[in-house]
Amino acid sequence: MAFVSMAASMPRAVFIASLVAALAMAAAGGAAAARGGRVIHLRFYMHDITGGPGQTAVQVVKGPGPAHPAMPGSHFGDTTVIDDALTEGDSAASRPLGRAQGAYTLASLGEPVLWVSMTVVLTGGAYNGSTIAVVGRDDVSASVRELAVVGGTGAFRRATGHVLWRTARMESRDHMVLELDVYATVPGASPPPPPRAAGAVRQEGLNLFNL
Ligand SMILES: *[C@@H]1O[C@H](CO)[C@@H](O)[C@H](O)[C@H]1NC(C)=O
Repeated sequence: MAFVSMAASMPRAVFIASLVAALAMAAAGGAAAARGGRVIHLRFYMHDITGGPGQTAVQVVKGPGPAHPAMPGSHFGDTTVIDDALTEGDSAASRPLGRAQGAYTLASLGEPVLWVSMTVVLTGGAYNGSTIAVVGRDDVSASVRELAVVGGTGAFRRATGHVLWRTARMESRDHMVLELDVYATVPGASPPPPPRAAGAVRQEGLNLFNL
């Protein structure tokens, strides 16, 4: 209890002054760490195809309860496992950038709210091989939803941040196109992404840029 005995032996004003100084130093340290971090912004489109040819989303749990009040035909607890394609443009035929692998569960008794937990695995471009862990609440009635970036691997090791998530359009009854803007802060010491070899990476097309 060195801190307590030091405090007891110190005149009160001096103790408070040193406490303030210590807090200021801690705050400065935090700001410096933030300055050392890099924000990576990615935009891509996610194709959630729940039936028909090219299905990528499969319902694995059907909730046993009554029909959901806000989502006709659905039930509390309904769970779908996904391996959705990610593309650079909103067309499924545009350049593939990766997959969104995970699941979503209808997790509100009254509202049309999904709990989403997924790994974004990037399979092309500057961050090929890296992953981003995304978790959060998807209120499908809201025009923009915010989910959390809770970690990652490779270039996204120790990432924190958020994802802005919008429904871009319905391609068909079974094919929803979502637009995702990922803002991930990675520590300055994280390994930089692989070099952007000319020809291998079209930066403007990828919509990848550092803020
Ligand atoms: C991504 O990395 C994998 C493994 O290194 C490689 O086989 C693949 O060709 C790369 N893809 C692109 C589009 O660069």
